[in-house]
Amino acid sequence: MEEWWTSSRQIMLIQKSTIQIFSFSGDLHLWVFVSTYKLIFVNTGFSQLSLNLIYDDTMIISVQNQKGGVGKTTLAIHISHVLASKDGRVLLIDADPQGSARDWAAARASQPPFTVVAVDRPTIHRDIPTTAQGYRHVVIDGPPRVTDLARSAIIAADLVVIPIQPSPYDVWAAKDVVDLIREASVFKEKLKSVFAINRKIANTAIGRDVAEALSSYNIPVLKSQICQRVAFAESAATGQTVLETVPNSAAAIELKALAQELLEVGRG
Ligand SMILES: Nc1ncnc2c1ncn2[C@@H]1O[C@H](COP(=O)(O)OP(=O)(O)OP(=O)(O)O)[C@@H](O)[C@H]1O
Ligand SMILES: [Mg+2]
Repeated sequence: MEEWWTSSRQIMLIQKSTIQIFSFSGDLHLWVFVSTYKLIFVNTGFSQLSLNLIYDDTMIISVQNQKGGVGKTTLAIHISHVLASKDGRVLLIDADPQGSARDWAAARASQPPFTVVAVDRPTIHRDIPTTAQGYRHVVIDGPPRVTDLARSAIIAADLVVIPIQPSPYDVWAAKDVVDLIREASVFKEKLKSVFAINRKIANTAIGRDVAEALSSYNIPVLKSQICQRVAFAESAATGQTVLETVPNSAAAIELKALAQELLEVGRG
């Protein structure tokens, strides 16, 4: 939510905005629902006005897999950074009681390029309309194992991304998150989900083999795959992303392609 307080009668906003609904609540609050950037002039008769921006097309991407160590936090942080650098304000919700995304943010020398908050209670789906206000994209970093949190983070989402490492163990273990997605789809018909292959060994066919093995789940596999790259662990040590430490690397290029594909799937 973005708020402007003004003592003048005219407010000028340059924001991603097409006004869809205007409604007044109480004396001083004007709520504006917005979708695309444009210049708005708002004339008001109020001496003080709180203007709240709510993006009606906020995309909520939830990175989930109850299997530990598959790259949920790594992908959630990097997707958030790519989206923040190309498409407006991003909120990263750390839904993992381990607090890895918060640790990452704390290790930084400067502010992260997106907002990081902790919501590690199974109320994410209930809180999300409020939490997401003013953000163009919300990314949720899911927990390993904790089913009630994962369930809440999946129901909150528009698009669930399931990172998976190219190993049969990961293919089998994906059943748990796939079951949660199927359960959530009963309540949320438009819920989308995709597998994202992570830690693929470059120049091997293993990514393709895993994609084939995953086909029995009837969930699409992203074309963009992320290879095993030491740059991810190195950048995490200083609370950075590969977009900052090695911006022209294959790791950064792969991540940008993956985030772009997610936007296309999410909006498709
Ligand atoms: N593509 C990659 N190349 C190399 N290392 C990677 C890659 N992706 C993740 N890692 C490393 O693997 C480890 C686990 O990654 P990460 O913490 O993102 O997984 P996670 O699924 O969030 O784990 P948890 O289930 O414990 O939350 C980290 O040390 C991370 O740096
Ligand atoms: Mg994690």
